[in-house]
Amino acid sequence: MLELKNITKTFGSVVANNDVSITVHRGTIHAIVGENGAGKSTVMRIAYGFYNADSGEIFLDGKRVDIRNPHDAIALGIGMVHQHFMLVDNLTVAENIILGSETGTATSLDLEKANIDIKKLSDDLRLNVNPRVLIEDLSVGQQQRVELLKALYRNAEILILDEPTAVLSPQEVEEFFGILRRMKEQGKTVIIITHKLEEVLAISDEVTVMRDGKSVGNVKTSETDAAGLARMIVGRDVLLRVEKDDARPADVVLSVNGLKVIGKHGLAVDDVSFEVRAGEIVGIAGIEGNGQTELIEALAGLCRPEGGRVGLEGKDVTNASARRLKELGVAHIPEDRHRRGLLLHSDLAENSVLGVHYRAPVAATAGFMSSTAIEKRVNEIIENFDVRPPNPEISAKSLSGGNQQKLIIGREFELDPKLLLVSQPTRGVDIGAIEFIHRKLIELRDKGRAILLVSAELEEVKALADRLLVIREGKIVGEVDPQTATVEEIGLLMTGG
Ligand SMILES: Nc1ncnc2c1ncn2[C@@H]1O[C@H](COP(=O)(O)OP(=O)(O)O)[C@@H](O)[C@H]1O
Ligand SMILES: [Mg+2]
Repeated sequence: MLELKNITKTFGSVVANNDVSITVHRGTIHAIVGENGAGKSTVMRIAYGFYNADSGEIFLDGKRVDIRNPHDAIALGIGMVHQHFMLVDNLTVAENIILGSETGTATSLDLEKANIDIKKLSDDLRLNVNPRVLIEDLSVGQQQRVELLKALYRNAEILILDEPTAVLSPQEVEEFFGILRRMKEQGKTVIIITHKLEEVLAISDEVTVMRDGKSVGNVKTSETDAAGLARMIVGRDVLLRVEKDDARPADVVLSVNGLKVIGKHGLAVDDVSFEVRAGEIVGIAGIEGNGQTELIEALAGLCRPEGGRVGLEGKDVTNASARRLKELGVAHIPEDRHRRGLLLHSDLAENSVLGVHYRAPVAATAGFMSSTAIEKRVNEIIENFDVRPPNPEISAKSLSGGNQQKLIIGREFELDPKLLLVSQPTRGVDIGAIEFIHRKLIELRDKGRAILLVSAELEEVKALADRLLVIREGKIVGEVDPQTATVEEIGLLMTGG
């Protein structure tokens, strides 16, 4: 149905796509996989007319087509849902969907018709989206369905989805895959970009693997497996399991007693108590938005608890500031690396000293920072944590998500913390880097440090944690043995089912 032939696209000196060819068959779900920066988004944006290729051709049903902009693509039946949604918060679902697809101003009559049409589209696919509600009142998962509806409303026959599951909980992913299967039954063709192997295996019919701007493989999903895909993606064998010995927990490092934290929507952490010992990883599993963010922020000194007590090696640190906690040996790898983890417009060198910039050896004399100390630090982090490209002078913004994460992890590990608070360590990170990050966390544990790990990836917390707590609606609702508990058991605790 869709053929991209010999597509090349450069941005300045970066070759994002180097002679890429992809063939997508009608009525299939076609996965595009590859590490961050492999060129997946670029090639699909070319198919959608968002970028124009420097060279190469696009064929639709065997006919050569010119796609100069998204209008051309939409007219040809190609729709795309981007990684970051493009919806207007204070308009309704229907208003968002007809926005830009109507010529001239939409009348209330048009809107009424759109409400009915969208309701029908939503019902056909069991999307459960009410066209009359405001976008701001929808969850991220629901907003994504609105983006799908927007493409379908414009009669898309091919839907390109760029990392659609990155923002979804495990349950939402299941539902979402159900929707994709129903779309396929209706004869639609779906192209899904992802870097999660289990998703490729679960949902796709065919896979194209991209590496370093090239298409390096094309296989039927039924004829490959996780190890085979991983090898093609990374270009070497990858350890997909976490290998670790049993933990040898020692003294209590973190003790949390009756902690209460108020969040944006009222009580977010409700009477939570637990301990983390030196030499163990305690995991917290839960559907996102059940208090994990507020819990970690309170423990990191980024917000003040409403009640309860937090102890660090027996010392009361309940109301300690973030800086004080850092000085006492608490490191924090935040879930939102852009907002909390990095200064995106600063270079790697500056980012590498955030949090220690005011003290020796980085602060040399009052008000001045030592450039040798900064250089030493950033180069150590780049080398030990394999940050690519290894250039201290480029901005944090120009790194891929995986490399940004390695930079943050490197910086926090450099503190040699007693306690590491870590949220979503591998979100949006490619598999080669996931293996690396997991190994680093186990190494830190085996050095006798205490680690509190929050992850929305159930498989990840299960694999890393030595003890696993389940959080729901701000309360710890159970503790399970991550080695023996099944995903179903944990899922039931998470949902209260
Ligand atoms: N608009 C752009 N300007 C400059 N460089 C870009 C732009 N978009 C992508 N790139 C670069 O092109 C390469 C491929 O990026 P992308 O297609 O986004 O990869 P992927 O989606 O596989 O992670 C990366 O090195 C990226 O930094
Ligand atoms: Mg991308």
